[in-house]
Amino acid sequence: MVVGAQWGDEGKGKVVDYLSASFDLIARYQGGHNAGHTVLWNGKKFVLQLVPSGILRPGKTALIGPGVVFDPAAFLSEVDALAQAGIDVSGRLFVSNRAQLIFPFHRQLDRASENARAGAKIGTTSRGIGPSYEDKMARRGMRVGELLDAQSFRRKLDDLIREKNALSEALYAQPLDVSGLADSYVAMADRIRPFVADTAAMLWRAADEGRALLFEGAQGTMLDIDHGTYPYVTSSNATSGGAATGLGFPPTRITAVVGVTKAYTTRVGNGPFPSEMPELEAGEVRNRGVEFGAVTGRPRRCGWLDLFMLRYATRLNGISSLVVTKLDVFDTQREIQVAVGYRYRGSPLGEMPAEAEILAQVEPEYRTLPGWCTPTSSIARYDELPQAARDYLRFVADDLGVEIGMISTGPERDATIIAPSTQLASWLR
Ligand code: GDP
Ligand code: IMO
Ligand code: MG
Repeated sequence: MVVGAQWGDEGKGKVVDYLSASFDLIARYQGGHNAGHTVLWNGKKFVLQLVPSGILRPGKTALIGPGVVFDPAAFLSEVDALAQAGIDVSGRLFVSNRAQLIFPFHRQLDRASENARAGAKIGTTSRGIGPSYEDKMARRGMRVGELLDAQSFRRKLDDLIREKNALSEALYAQPLDVSGLADSYVAMADRIRPFVADTAAMLWRAADEGRALLFEGAQGTMLDIDHGTYPYVTSSNATSGGAATGLGFPPTRITAVVGVTKAYTTRVGNGPFPSEMPELEAGEVRNRGVEFGAVTGRPRRCGWLDLFMLRYATRLNGISSLVVTKLDVFDTQREIQVAVGYRYRGSPLGEMPAEAEILAQVEPEYRTLPGWCTPTSSIARYDELPQAARDYLRFVADDLGVEIGMISTGPERDATIIAPSTQLASWLR
């Protein structure tokens, strides 16, 4: 499984696209079209949101699991865009009949809820993710499978709208815009039908047959609903445990967890970010790394690599191999800072604080490492990396006690180093 070790946008799309060559099935386990996974391939740029990044490899099967919140309109437009780019998904892309539906009123409620928060706005992607998960947990939501029986779908949707309208009027003094909603969903049902499947059963069968399965996380560890910087998080379990529940796949059968981190840190949206750089330095990294949101176009906040946070992510997810992306972005950096610990009110912290207010006040302790000031862009062999870059990676691996199995030196597929003699290297075929 591939999991984001930071606040999302670590380069999971590129990593999953690369690794997919060695796997048969690729499955998404949580989140929705708040995700934006960028893959550059054949001179074309793909931003995958709901569809697993493995889809770009011919012959691979891609699954969207029960833990995902599914917007059928977003899904169909993604499928259409793939078809336009010459990628045929028929017979190899499936969505779980148990995945939760997103309705347009979820987007409306997402915006209304953000507007109603005076100070502490989360800065959501306004895709209706949180409100759809709310309905799921309240056991009033609707699932993909229910879309397939028009009559009962309309009846259940009527009930849902009645309840949601009362809530919306009471909370935000605005009625929901639901004109034409049932008709538009019923109209989409015929196009969705061939994709609907029991994806958990497909995974069990595939595993029994000895096929290689790869799970693609969305968002990242610090955006996890339980373990992230609550309340500045997304509404699902982005961490590795989310794959077992989000796919209905037993944890005893998951054999390795790949954590993806940038060579630095970014965050889009609000909330604490201890190793955030001052805007002057952040601006440079943002420009070199093209750090603008793949979904919303928002500039990403930039900071130094944070080993205190990555230690937390490593233990929480059980990361067995680390992937470091965007190493090339530091090619002109003279000195590189790395946060190695946090102090709070003068005392060192042992564990990640649970409260966002405390995390906002911690002071990172930094180590300064020399930059390499040599281009690493598109290097594909470990021994071609400059010594200072190897020292930087070694410092990270030693601190975390985890192998670095893969290093990314550019957005393209072949700008990838597989570190020799690592566990990660041993799965590739
Ligand atoms: P994801 O959400 O984790 O899949 O990451 P995003 O796709 O949102 O953001 C990562 C961005 O960095 C994308 O624009 C990628 O094309 C780009 N990228 C990935 N790996 C590298 C790399 O090693 N170097 C550079 N320069 N860009 C990269
Ligand atoms: P990928 O998969 C980065 C952030 C939003 C916001 C918070 C809640 O591309 O790494 P939401 O719309 O989910 O309710 O927003 O989570 N966020 C992401 N940040 N990468 C993502 O996905 C994100 N998905 C959500 O910016 O701070
Ligand atoms: Mg992204």
